[in-house]
Amino acid sequence: MPTIVEVKNLKKRYKDFEAVKGVSFDVEQGEIFGFLGPNGAGKSTTINMLSTIIKPSSGTATINGYDIVQKRNKVRSSIGLIFQASTLDEKLTANENLMLHCKFYGVAKKLREERIQEVLQIVDLTDKRYNIVETFSGGMKRRLEIARGLLHYPRVLFLDEPTVGLDPQTRAHIWDYILKLKEKAGITIFLTTHYMDEAEICDRVAVMDHGALIALDKPVQLKKNVGGDILEIATEDNVTAKSRIEETYQTEVLEKEGILTFQVERGDEFLVQFVKEFEIPITSVNLRRPTLNDVFLNLTGREIREETVSQKDRMKQGRGH
Ligand SMILES: Nc1ncnc2c1ncn2[C@@H]1O[C@H](COP(=O)(O)OP(=O)(O)O)[C@@H](O)[C@H]1O
Ligand SMILES: [Mg+2]
Repeated sequence: MPTIVEVKNLKKRYKDFEAVKGVSFDVEQGEIFGFLGPNGAGKSTTINMLSTIIKPSSGTATINGYDIVQKRNKVRSSIGLIFQASTLDEKLTANENLMLHCKFYGVAKKLREERIQEVLQIVDLTDKRYNIVETFSGGMKRRLEIARGLLHYPRVLFLDEPTVGLDPQTRAHIWDYILKLKEKAGITIFLTTHYMDEAEICDRVAVMDHGALIALDKPVQLKKNVGGDILEIATEDNVTAKSRIEETYQTEVLEKEGILTFQVERGDEFLVQFVKEFEIPITSVNLRRPTLNDVFLNLTGREIREETVSQKDRMKQGRGH
């Protein structure tokens, strides 16, 4: 597949803080490409540079063959953009929001009616066309934003955290639409997420942390690189058990909420032997395949979820910054 997004050593600096530390990657035409990383990793900053919202400090990138600094207008007409926070005009109807976008993007007058009907159909909002956006649910607003992003037939659709803040059922629903778009010939989807399960759906995932890409591959391959299986156990004495497992099996054991987690080769065989010979009484065991969270954990020693939750909690408690 030909390359549609080409990024070379892209950096963004805010005063003495480097938010994006020189990332390089290619996106192939027609794929769903995901940026996975905790809050503050630099995902939005990267998307904002690629979509010409902010200027890179250094490095280059092209979209659809156009340089993001030299050919901003060409880049803008090549992309659809769905921001992390809604940018709909809530006092207007869905139709008015879409019409404004057509004008803004120079969609020819005679094409507008047909395009609006088409995009509303894709996201199942045809019957809400003349309703005020204010009356829409969160999921409906997201769908309308996706529809709007498609009006000018972009080659690449950027979605920054497309399902954040939505309930699980609505999230699944939004994903149905994203997958449907992929089938639409030629459109490439570039999204960011901090949800593992969403990253799983992507064709390829770039894992981002502290402004740098620390891995990029198909989800299945990323998980393969973790190697082996994940064993989670609880014992009557986790402190002793942890050091004993680390000594005996030369592996790193993580303790969280009373559960010891470690990686083993050929988990099923290992488990049988382990339960037989381990001296400290085991109170629970769980053997599982690695997830993308384990991938992140392996690469950084931290969990994506942990940080995301604590950040959210901080915000809820009003102590965020
Ligand atoms: N305008 C700005 N000025 C200063 N720092 C910023 C600005 N925008 C983002 N940052 C910082 O850059 C880092 C990356 O932010 P962002 O790209 O929004 O991360 P993500 O989208 O992965 O959560 C964060 O530490 C954030 O605080
Ligand atoms: Mg973000």
